[in-house]
Amino acid sequence: MQPASVTVLPTPTRIRPRTALVASADRSFRQRLTQILTGLRWQVREAEGGAEAWAEAESSPVEAVIVDSWLPDLDVAEFLKDFRGSFPHVDLVTASGTSPEEGPRGPYRQELLYAMRRSQDTDTAGWNAAPALKTDRAALLVRETASMAVPIETAIPLFKESQPSPHAPPRTEATARTEPASAERLPELIGNARCMIEVSRRIRLVAPRMTPVLIEGPTGSGKELVAEAVHRLSARSRKPFVTINCAAIPEALLEAELFGHTRGAFTGAVQGRTGRIESADGGTLFLDEIGEMPLALQSKLLRFVECGELQRVGDNETVKVDVRIIAATHRPLAEHAQAGSFRSDLYYRLAVFLIRTPSLAEHADDLPPLVEHFLGQLGRDMPVKRIDEPAMAKLAAHDWPGNVRELEHVLERAVILAGEEPVLTAAEIDFGRIVN
Ligand SMILES: Nc1ncnc2c1ncn2[C@@H]1O[C@H](COP(=O)(O)OP(=O)(O)OP(=O)(O)O)[C@@H](O)[C@H]1O
Ligand SMILES: [Mg+2]
Repeated sequence: MQPASVTVLPTPTRIRPRTALVASADRSFRQRLTQILTGLRWQVREAEGGAEAWAEAESSPVEAVIVDSWLPDLDVAEFLKDFRGSFPHVDLVTASGTSPEEGPRGPYRQELLYAMRRSQDTDTAGWNAAPALKTDRAALLVRETASMAVPIETAIPLFKESQPSPHAPPRTEATARTEPASAERLPELIGNARCMIEVSRRIRLVAPRMTPVLIEGPTGSGKELVAEAVHRLSARSRKPFVTINCAAIPEALLEAELFGHTRGAFTGAVQGRTGRIESADGGTLFLDEIGEMPLALQSKLLRFVECGELQRVGDNETVKVDVRIIAATHRPLAEHAQAGSFRSDLYYRLAVFLIRTPSLAEHADDLPPLVEHFLGQLGRDMPVKRIDEPAMAKLAAHDWPGNVRELEHVLERAVILAGEEPVLTAAEIDFGRIVN
């Protein structure tokens, strides 16, 4: 009998679809591009910022990355340059389509630029069709300060408008629903500006995870408040929240303070001591002013971040510690990592998720609710004071280099200076500047 003939078919090779990554804080920009690229048979992944895009590209390969012309966490030019160095084969395109940092033209460049143009067409046709909702700053200010009893009849010019992404559609009834809702705001973070609600939103998203968080922002802008909020909303909230300020502890003592030491480990170590990392076991370690950490210690910290194990100073024994790390800095750490003054491997481990606390000038419209909040706090042991219009105007005209902390102190001073008077006037608003 003839054996049945068997035809061997070639094994079908699975071809991974081309994948593009869209990095933008603007959800509608991401959605429009995703729709268009999907129609062009791309698989699309989205990232809200540079750090997230970086982590996405590392987690599985992508052929192309489209970067918005503004990112909430990283400087776009810096990001493009670093990304190009680490992922030289990825076709990199910016929303402006002109950056020299995008590198050599990849095979998909034309297609990506086409998608970008189409998304901008959709932008004009779709978003501009509905009438824009006028934000009357004067009306807003009067409404927000109305609860302070002293009427403010005239508009008080505040700071410059905060800079939205150039791709942010004009505010319409429709977009208002897709923007971060003010219901997402955390109670301890005062401010209804978009950038402040974004801070709350990011805290809520990252808090339940173990992901390391890097908080960047100028002095007095609420970095510590954000770190505490991340801890409070995490499953670790009943465990310790331990802070170490890397700028406040002398370099020679910082290592022992962080990692602990045995008895006699160094001159003066008459007793062994548990380090801050171990004290935070099960909870959260907040490394404040991480940019000030000496390079030698950064290597030791990197080892701990990578494997969760540490050695006390003067000890050979390895200790396993379970902590979630949150770091904060007022410096542009990415720049320092690039310049070599901060270890870039440590930077990327810490900056897995970035939260940027804006300067007060960036959310100037939040001045009235912040004033109300602090006057309420200051009035805990005495009747709450109110503020009159010229005093408010004086506050509004200030540039706030010390941000929210400065506002808190100016109001505390004003409350003391007002004595028994129930209303703060411009005379009590003293910015405490030293005049040469
Ligand atoms: N959005 C906010 N709402 C309410 N209080 C705030 C807000 N931002 C900051 N504060 C208050 O301002 C003060 C300074 O905040 P915080 O210490 O968190 O700032 P920081 O960024 O860590 O400053 P530094 O860089 O100087 O350490 C604190 O009293 C904090 O509670
Ligand atoms: Mg701080």
